[in-house]
Amino acid sequence: MSSDHDMKNHAPETMCVHGGDHPDEATGAVSTPIYQVSTFAFKNAAHAAACFAGEDDGYIYSRLGNPTIDTFEKKLAALEGTDDALAFGSGMAAVHNISMHLAHGGHIVSSDTVYGGTFALYEHLLPKMGIPVSFVDMTKIENIEKAIRPDTKMIFVETPANPTLLMTDIAAAADLAHSKGIKLVVDNTFCTPYLQKPMALGADIVLHSGTKYIGGHGDAVSGVYAGPQDLIDESREWRTDIGGVIAPLQSWLLLRGLKTLHLRVERAQENAIKMAAYLEQHPKVEWVLFPGLKSHPQYELGKKQMRGPGGVISFEVKGGVEAGAKLMDSVKLMTLAVSLGDVSTLIEHPASMTHSTMSPEDREKYGLSNGLVRIALGVENSVDQIADLEQALAKV
Ligand SMILES: Cc1ncc(COP(=O)(O)O)c(C=O)c1O
Repeated sequence: MSSDHDMKNHAPETMCVHGGDHPDEATGAVSTPIYQVSTFAFKNAAHAAACFAGEDDGYIYSRLGNPTIDTFEKKLAALEGTDDALAFGSGMAAVHNISMHLAHGGHIVSSDTVYGGTFALYEHLLPKMGIPVSFVDMTKIENIEKAIRPDTKMIFVETPANPTLLMTDIAAAADLAHSKGIKLVVDNTFCTPYLQKPMALGADIVLHSGTKYIGGHGDAVSGVYAGPQDLIDESREWRTDIGGVIAPLQSWLLLRGLKTLHLRVERAQENAIKMAAYLEQHPKVEWVLFPGLKSHPQYELGKKQMRGPGGVISFEVKGGVEAGAKLMDSVKLMTLAVSLGDVSTLIEHPASMTHSTMSPEDREKYGLSNGLVRIALGVENSVDQIADLEQALAKV
């Protein structure tokens, strides 16, 4: 089997199965073994000293490196088309790590609609640690430019954003960032490398909550980001000292998830396209936001930078919060739960769930209405998914 270095020119589907992945060097095992181990024995004192001095790349301790974790990181890096990656125990640990690394002593400009946990970190905790954050509507690049200060060190873009599904032009944001010597970080959780390649569009770092499509089966909280070797090497020092490393079992679950990423994302997306068309014509639905609908205000941008619209839809049922709550209480096949990118369809109400840490004023300011409902399509049959929503909408 070829190593990752031979895989660069293969199609995305082939990359999902083989990219960055190869039989275990020690045993020949075809599926990467779970090296469920905290510490590694040295051959002798000289070997130990050489490992600590960085003269030998032998493993030392799993917070610093572990063969299962390494293989996951190499595979994700291969899929994102970059040198290396670094994995964490959660997406938020990844966001925290890269923000501390790139923006310490400086300022961040962030998308105003981001995952609620990222918003909480940026709104409350990072400023307490001396890293102020400005939130801007990144659907317009000039808003980013206006928010840049002399001490801005990092621009954080989530596109499409959770849960408004508004987008940022990654290539334009990268040009702007680089013209000012600022690093651009893109949260690619909603698209995965199968649908969007931020590095090819000029990003410096691409980040994921691995908990979502990467793992794909609702069983592994995790995070990861990928980038050029020099940045990842520096970040590795931050991870070593702050901690927050991913576990070997979680890495294995993500490796396994990545092998079917293309199949799951394609099916979820196909289902979302059908569901969005159904919702858009439904008399009880006020509006639908989905990058694949021509009614999306940034439909053309989505087509330009994404291979497809993805599997998440936001919409509002006529009747606001109460009607939305009734809808969620009435679904039978769909699961009322946070998260997305799962094989099961998940439905949630951001204002009372994922984005409840934002104040009502902030939610209103950033276009996150109280009645907004988010559906993350799973890989079930779309006829069953639509029938479930049909019977739930009938009860609203
Ligand atoms: C876009 C996005 N980024 C980051 C995160 C945080 O990831 P985690 O929950 O794995 O910490 C989430 C979680 O929902 C998310 O949706």
